[in-house]
Amino acid sequence: MISETERQELSEILSDLLDSDLVQSMKRYIQHGTVSTFDHAMRVTERCYERSRRMPAEKRRKLLRAAFLHDFYLYDWHTKDPSHKWHGFHHARRAANNAKAVFHVSEEECRMIDRHMWPLNPERIPMTKSEWILTLADKRVSFAETWQGFFKKKSPAGKENEKETATRS
Ligand SMILES: [Fe+2]
Ligand SMILES: [Fe+2]
Repeated sequence: MISETERQELSEILSDLLDSDLVQSMKRYIQHGTVSTFDHAMRVTERCYERSRRMPAEKRRKLLRAAFLHDFYLYDWHTKDPSHKWHGFHHARRAANNAKAVFHVSEEECRMIDRHMWPLNPERIPMTKSEWILTLADKRVSFAETWQGFFKKKSPAGKENEKETATRS
């Protein structure tokens, strides 16, 4: 968990990214269950925040920005489209390239994004502490989201929630 003050600090670190329409478009894409890519990215970033409290400020800043852009591939992987076939294997590189093209991220940040899908991309092994923090945070958050999504679908309470959401939207 991160405090309200820490959340504000995080928003400042990510402010230019949060202002971007392309980043905001991640709210339209589903990542796992009912969680959007935007919310997934924020959860992974908050987890990295928790794990990097003792890191030097500049290193930490890079980790948090890379964490927020780690799935900046900009499509809904559930939609069938030949351009994002084999999503699991290819999206890390695509996100890294997008982050470089749009936000001119450093090589260090680019590598963190590019390596986050290890071991699915077995040749891209995380090599630094930051790369490991991001890779493990993503696994942990993804597992929780997928698991929660599964139970939401299965449980009667989940069905009720789905109905409520449908009525509201
Ligand atoms: Fe990913
Ligand atoms: Fe992810």
